[in-house]
Amino acid sequence: MARDTDSDDTPDRLKRREILAAAGGIAVAGVTPTITTANRTPVTNTDNEEGHAKSTQTLESPNGEIEVTVELIESEPRYSLVSGGETLIEPSTLGFEFRDADPFNGGFEVSGVRRQSKDSTWEPVWGETAEVRNQYNELTIGLIEADEPGRSLTLVFRAYDDGVAFRYVLPEQDGLDEFAITQERTGFAFADDYTAWWIPDGWESYEYLYEETPLSEITNSPDDGLEDTDAVNTPVTMKTANDQYLSVHEAALTDYAGMTLARHEDRPAEFESALVPWPDGAKVKAETPHASPWRTITVGSEPGDLAESRLVLNLNEPNEIQDTSWINPEKYMGIWWEMHIGKATWAPGPDVGATTANAKRYMDFASEHGIESVLVEGWNTGWEGGFDDWSNPPHTFDFTESTDQYDLEEVVEYGQQKDPSVGVTIHNETGGGVSNYLDQIEEAYAYYEELGIHSAKLGYVSAEGMSIDGELYPHHSQRMVNHYRYVTQLAAEHELMLNVHEPIKPTGIRRTWPNLMTQEGFRGLEYENASPRGNPPGHTLTLPFTRMIAGPVDYNQGIFDVLHEPYGGDTRVHNTRARQLTLFVIMFSGLQMAADLPENYDDLDEFEFIENVPVSWDETNVVHGSIGRYTTFARRNGEEWYLGSGTDDTPRALDVPLSFLEKGTYVATVYTDGEDADYHTNPTSVDIDEFLVDGNDTLLASMIEGGGQTVRLRPVEGKERADLPSYEYPDYEYDSFIIQNEVMASEAITPTLEVTNPGTVIGGESLSLYVDGEEVDTRFVRVSGGNEEQVDFAFKPSDPGTYEVAVGPSPDDLIATETVEVTPTSAEFEWLSFDGFDVPEEVERGATIEVTGTVTNTGDGETSQVVKMTVDAEVVRAARINLESGGSSEVTLEYTFDMPGEYAVAIEDLGPWTVTVPEPEAA
Ligand code: NOJ
Ligand code: CA
Repeated sequence: MARDTDSDDTPDRLKRREILAAAGGIAVAGVTPTITTANRTPVTNTDNEEGHAKSTQTLESPNGEIEVTVELIESEPRYSLVSGGETLIEPSTLGFEFRDADPFNGGFEVSGVRRQSKDSTWEPVWGETAEVRNQYNELTIGLIEADEPGRSLTLVFRAYDDGVAFRYVLPEQDGLDEFAITQERTGFAFADDYTAWWIPDGWESYEYLYEETPLSEITNSPDDGLEDTDAVNTPVTMKTANDQYLSVHEAALTDYAGMTLARHEDRPAEFESALVPWPDGAKVKAETPHASPWRTITVGSEPGDLAESRLVLNLNEPNEIQDTSWINPEKYMGIWWEMHIGKATWAPGPDVGATTANAKRYMDFASEHGIESVLVEGWNTGWEGGFDDWSNPPHTFDFTESTDQYDLEEVVEYGQQKDPSVGVTIHNETGGGVSNYLDQIEEAYAYYEELGIHSAKLGYVSAEGMSIDGELYPHHSQRMVNHYRYVTQLAAEHELMLNVHEPIKPTGIRRTWPNLMTQEGFRGLEYENASPRGNPPGHTLTLPFTRMIAGPVDYNQGIFDVLHEPYGGDTRVHNTRARQLTLFVIMFSGLQMAADLPENYDDLDEFEFIENVPVSWDETNVVHGSIGRYTTFARRNGEEWYLGSGTDDTPRALDVPLSFLEKGTYVATVYTDGEDADYHTNPTSVDIDEFLVDGNDTLLASMIEGGGQTVRLRPVEGKERADLPSYEYPDYEYDSFIIQNEVMASEAITPTLEVTNPGTVIGGESLSLYVDGEEVDTRFVRVSGGNEEQVDFAFKPSDPGTYEVAVGPSPDDLIATETVEVTPTSAEFEWLSFDGFDVPEEVERGATIEVTGTVTNTGDGETSQVVKMTVDAEVVRAARINLESGGSSEVTLEYTFDMPGEYAVAIEDLGPWTVTVPEPEAA
């Protein structure tokens, strides 16, 4: 493979400085930002044609769709952004405030301007695509203070077709040498109150569920551990009223503090960069020449455009690793989930997970199923106190010494002797004891190299910060940014691929250091066991369009026993098993974990998918993307394509056209939520089918709540062409729309429709009931091949009159229409009266309430009616009763609450009563 040497200019590497040395003996190039030779000194080409005085400059993307304007307004620099004719960012501030020096954000003149363009293509060592095109126009503006001290600042802007980026360069100069930034004044004056997908600005963690709110409703989160600032971590994704999507993040975060965005006090859609501080409050300590990371604004007309953008990678320096033969994206299993669910412990003792025998058991399974490596957590000394100790000083982890129950060398050797061999992924949990780690790191990495270990998972769990030389530093502070880089580079020297948990967020550094295979830095699957809420099904449909714009994710999917009984207690994985499979396609990671226990995989046909699915890709297309709701990813490796579709808690069917297939016939192996799958009672049912398909086919991904569909497509071979059936899209046939043609006001109309699936593939369609064109009820209809189903709808008109009642997938696509006469309620048919029905105020999650009451026919005639129980206004149970005039009958209605929350429960017009289902204590 051609090496990635696509540098943007002659790079001029700087020597390390003292503060870096303090971060742990850093003597490797690349820890300081790369500054091109031209940008080391102030930009002062006053004889430039553009003219010295021209204080407004514009820059267009290569396709002309995006335009940035950079101007001096009353001598202060401002930038603004227009895309597709829509202003996305109004003129916004630029500049700095320093400790012990004047602010650096005004009183400027333009001292020079430079422009250049670039269009090249480079090949990543591994990634989402085999090639990356790097095409942009660049504008560099030199600013100089008109008055003393006359300092110089350089702004570099780049416009790509998929967004813009800019960085500050503080050039070498007389008036500015060492400095400490106390505030970066980069404004983001969003032009409107965009919808945003955001997490709070925690300095120690990114492990939150995403909120979807208008920008103006971003609020300080009580659990981000910070003071009262309304702020977010990046990347943060937004959508404008005109359906443009944008993601704000940073690229090439080097020798600088991580950036969060904090809201302006008075203007709710306006934000400013807020950097994570040192313990003494400074944000960035450096000396000139220095450069900030790139501030990035990725732009697209669909969420998928953001996921397909490689802008963040393009802004990083080319690969620094000469020999990359040892960098192989791979799958791994781990002695991991068994600790999280409580089957085993990290701490030594009778239930410890990390024993030599258990590791060999995982290796046996891994070797048999082509999984390349096994992670063993709890292998080393220092875990004795279990969870209570490892985030608190003193840090006693030893990174070369096995516990009495585990023999690292024996396990490594065992794996090497297997055929195929299985590696050990070494685990280094620091518990935040960074000094303790640095004391041992060189020796430890040399030892791992000697043993032939090629992958490591690092951990920095600590809520209170990283302990370095007796002080606590936030995870996302400059000193830790430098630490994470140092570790990545040292790992490269020892041929170690890294998976970093509790990391600094990815900013594309994997381009320069392609041994940085994956990271956490988001709420991974481990949270499925931390609380009953876990990760709702929409979470992994939000990540591709938010956090993953920054880079790969070690999500840890592949849980087959999604209810993880008997260890689950009141937690579960909020997916079906079919959906866990799709995450191998959706969640991109250079090291991809199959996270469940070997005993949960044994003998299951669907594990074959995990065996086959590649880790690195030649092509990536987002077929469907609706943030937090549904998605379909299509990825190609060689001649094979893999499709992953998923839905949130709404059952859904998505059309997936195969038009991306090259000519020829393919075998599609399709893994779908089973015919009898149910999110609550039977989430592990998967149907596996094989069909012949080609580029003219459209597959239907029919998914239940929290479900998914995964497809492997490979060129057909030999006899298969004759043996396998061709795919037939499941087209329903509809029959007999049965509806009462006359009802009384307040009586329910309960139409039914018969739906038949004449084909062989499971179908899925949302069908709605429309009354005078208005949607009043919807059902997701999932009929398997060769079957029929009766679909029941319900609607209660309140006023007499004549109504058009229709059924169909949409108001423009109706299956049947009938007229219903609604007559006034007749006096002698005077209804039912209800008595009893005591609804409890609080029930435990999973418990069934039974509500019994008496129904009496107080009318003059016989009646047959339905008594309904509703939860949050949706009918959940109904019982039909037939009563003579004056007769009464006992009715029991029951309901099970699966999720914590507050519910409004009503029986006909009794109630509503509030029922609370408390969130059980976290494990
Ligand atoms: C937190 C990590 O995210 C998790 O994967 C790991 O098991 C524990 N720390 C222990 O290191
Ligand atoms: Ca974690």
